[in-house]
Amino acid sequence: MISMTDRLILEFDRALRAVAGQQAAQRPSPAAGVAEGALDAATREQSAALMRVNHVGEVCAQALYQGQALTARGEGARASLEQAAREEADHLAWSAERIRELGGRPSLLNPLWYAGSLALGLGAGLLGDRWNLAFLAETERQVEEHLGGHLRRLAPEDARTRAVVDAMRADEARHRDTALSLGAADLPAPARLAMRAMAKVMTTVASRV
Ligand SMILES: [Fe+2]
Ligand SMILES: [Fe+2]
Repeated sequence: MISMTDRLILEFDRALRAVAGQQAAQRPSPAAGVAEGALDAATREQSAALMRVNHVGEVCAQALYQGQALTARGEGARASLEQAAREEADHLAWSAERIRELGGRPSLLNPLWYAGSLALGLGAGLLGDRWNLAFLAETERQVEEHLGGHLRRLAPEDARTRAVVDAMRADEARHRDTALSLGAADLPAPARLAMRAMAKVMTTVASRV
């Protein structure tokens, strides 16, 4: 059994790693074994910008799952959510690695994205597990949609980036199913719209800064 203080220290360590881009993946990157395409400078830049947005999304996912872990009351949900959180850590590492390969850099505002998402996650947690899960499920759904949009925008010859985005999208769909199967409430339409609006601001800013 670990105490609450130990847990807070562990979570703080996780937060620092997420923000600093120091995360080790447990699964090999889906880009491993995929040959690098012949990308011109403009294509690399576009791919790097899209991956920066995805990386920000994964930083936020770390914070959301962390908020979940700190506030979840039901023990039953914990194991599946921890598994999802570990997969999110893989996403974070894979996207950071791909950004580096493309010669880009992660968002300078990562600490801000992290803090904002953690506050949201903790807030949702205070409403109880059903709402916390509802918030997670809707986030996963929007991220999945978003990654689908990126697959349409990424250059066909950028096979390595596509492999990463494709695998992440498949994971997010499963994460959403997990949250739903654990009893997520139905999020009211205004809340879904507000989340969409916030995601829009975040992705627009992150594609530049
Ligand atoms: Fe993810
Ligand atoms: Fe996810």
